[in-house]
Amino acid sequence: MKILVTGGAGFIGSNFIHYLLDRHPDYDVVNLDKLTYAGNLENLQSVSGNSHYSFIKGDIADADLVRGIMDRGMDAIINFAAESHVDRSILEPASFIRTNVLGTQVLLDVARERHLPRFVQISTDEVYGSLGPTGRFTEDTCLCPNSPYSASKASADMIALAYHRTFDLPVLVTRTSNNYGPYQFPEKLLPLVITNLMEDRQVPLYGDGMNVRDWIFVKDNAEAIDLVLHKGKEGEVYNIGAGCESTNLSLIQGVLDVMKKPDSLITYVKDRPGHDRRYAIDPSKIRNILGWSPRTMLQDGLRKTIDWYTKNTDWWKRIKSGEYLKYYEKNYTPKGL
Ligand code: NAD
Ligand code: TYD
Repeated sequence: MKILVTGGAGFIGSNFIHYLLDRHPDYDVVNLDKLTYAGNLENLQSVSGNSHYSFIKGDIADADLVRGIMDRGMDAIINFAAESHVDRSILEPASFIRTNVLGTQVLLDVARERHLPRFVQISTDEVYGSLGPTGRFTEDTCLCPNSPYSASKASADMIALAYHRTFDLPVLVTRTSNNYGPYQFPEKLLPLVITNLMEDRQVPLYGDGMNVRDWIFVKDNAEAIDLVLHKGKEGEVYNIGAGCESTNLSLIQGVLDVMKKPDSLITYVKDRPGHDRRYAIDPSKIRNILGWSPRTMLQDGLRKTIDWYTKNTDWWKRIKSGEYLKYYEKNYTPKGL
């Protein structure tokens, strides 16, 4: 197969490319990435010499560029490209609408023009909104996004599914819970906590720390996406989650324990506006129909992740000393850190 991966220089996209090239060494992978602040070619250094891998710097919203790539005869697009951080979407929503909504629409239009055999739209559980203390999201849960980020992702999902119903485009959608693991940009909770603790800095916990997220190790998500690509049914949505719910406070306490750091490094800061209280994925469909199950549970995955950030200090120190500092100040100084 020839696969166009968009956003492959980001966290999940780069982990997916590593997974794909390992699992299917004869596949050709083209990575189209704009290299925003979140895109990092260092994530792909070890495959940069692989003759089955190539990189193109560019924007998914550039229709001519996408057409040119499609003319190489692609069998599938897997669309990871996105603005992905909720806090940034609160500070500056416009780029989220541009890339996540309009960029996806451009990819869908070119896919339609070129009769692409497979289009996998990578989405998030955040499109379902916030849960109370019980229940889990199924694929039939109504969409009720609360942040500019999740609203932009929900829009893209709905447009993609509409292209299936209206034009018969072979679209599949995955909705995954919070991923963690190697190469995650240190603006997201876990890498932010791990790297701050490595420098004995305070870790910012929003609100009362009792918001719940459902955590999945990124490699398990890559395996699930690969399965959806090959065996999923067109027009269907697949929820992907590992059943690892945790409050943010207990997650951070778990990291403090492994890293042998004191609780006094936690600082409660002003809550995120519109902060969703709880996410939890019901993965029964992908388990029962495609036979997927996660391999890595939270305790083990946390250790692997902490270990990776410990061994790759150059990777995250370069990020944290650059442009990132400006964002950190803008997001955290008004919150009290
Ligand atoms: P990320 O922010 O780490 O990476 C996004 C990548 O997309 C970057 O390499 C960036 O340069 C690229 N990009 C941004 N705009 C682009 C554009 N216009 N054209 C081409 N490339 C562009 O994000 P991530 O955490 O790897 O998330 C990947 C996908 O998975 C996103 O669609 C996100 O919504 C979804 N998702 C993420 C999570 C999570 O926990 N991280 C959970 C569920 C779903
Ligand atoms: P995040 O990693 O931003 O993912 P998402 O908002 O997409 O779930 O945040 C995960 C949880 O951690 C979320 O409830 C917000 C919280 N959080 C903090 O408490 N402090 C922080 O500095 C960050 C970035 C997140």
